[in-house]
Amino acid sequence: MYMRNCWYVAGWSKDYEQKLRAQTVLGEKIVFYRQGDGKPVALEDACPHRKLPLSMGQLAGDRVVCGYHGLTFDCSGSCVEAPTQRGNIPKRAVVKSYPVEDRYGLLWIWMGDADKATPDEIFHIPNYDNPAWGATDGGSLHLGCNYLWMADNLLDPSHVAWVHVTSFAGAGTDDAALDLERTDRGVIVSRWIYDQPVSPYYAPLVKFTGNCDRKQHYEMCFPAIGVNMSIYCPAGSGGPKAPHGDLTYVNVSYNFMTPIDEHNTLYIWFQHRNTDPDDTAISEQMNAGALMAFNEDKVVLEAVHRGMENKTSPHLDLGLDAGAKLFRLQLGRQIDAEQP
Ligand code: FES
Ligand SMILES: [Fe+2]
Repeated sequence: MYMRNCWYVAGWSKDYEQKLRAQTVLGEKIVFYRQGDGKPVALEDACPHRKLPLSMGQLAGDRVVCGYHGLTFDCSGSCVEAPTQRGNIPKRAVVKSYPVEDRYGLLWIWMGDADKATPDEIFHIPNYDNPAWGATDGGSLHLGCNYLWMADNLLDPSHVAWVHVTSFAGAGTDDAALDLERTDRGVIVSRWIYDQPVSPYYAPLVKFTGNCDRKQHYEMCFPAIGVNMSIYCPAGSGGPKAPHGDLTYVNVSYNFMTPIDEHNTLYIWFQHRNTDPDDTAISEQMNAGALMAFNEDKVVLEAVHRGMENKTSPHLDLGLDAGAKLFRLQLGRQIDAEQP
């Protein structure tokens, strides 16, 4: 069961061209392509005659021709030609079409009722066009695990102390108290850690020397978008009520999880920072570091998926799981509310 009346990231816009591309999203086989004018199309990847994947056929202009007997579909999924019986297009020769939109360099797909799809509801990225902010190109990984294991991970600031020792770890990331907040779009787990060295990943990036006050803001939004904000400021200047000063460093990591099926997830991310907007060396260094760290998560989460699938004794929860459990509960309610 997935939340459906929402936008998921199908992939990077640049990877969708004027050719057929097969992909599975929420367990559904979908064929993507672009029309001559660049508009994206997503259709059910199964011909209604004998269910040959349309992705095994051919693009003819903006239409898809089935590779078995030539049934031809336009970008709305309607059959417009049945060459084996000209002039007699079967009424039921229709494939489902999915609303798709390009935004933020990503291709978004609406998996629910097409008439409810509103591009205004695509997840908002606040500083995407802000020239004062720097950005990484981002990356993507295939995760051989259920998407909710990554959602849990992105509500769990403590795991960095063991999984990301050379990047995001630091004193206090193991045991400082966590705050939990329910929002109208999901859940936030956060905490301030005071007067400690800057973590290895951020040490070359912040604009001050000496110890820091540091905030870990881990937020999950429906259906499966993680907003991970790292705030660093000189020790003594941080805290929930302290305003951001000139030396406050902010990095926001956007994490998009799209279920391929129950056991596989497409994971895509990019980062925005409030410094060095034009410094490509910093962007590349951050991108490489993020890829390394997310590969560390991948190894753990794929093993967790297998461990939980094949467990031979009960598992238990810890206090750190409160945010993850609340998000799963809230997401379940969203899914229930979509049922007829
Ligand atoms: S399977 Fe597509 S036309 Fe026969
Ligand atoms: Fe992680």
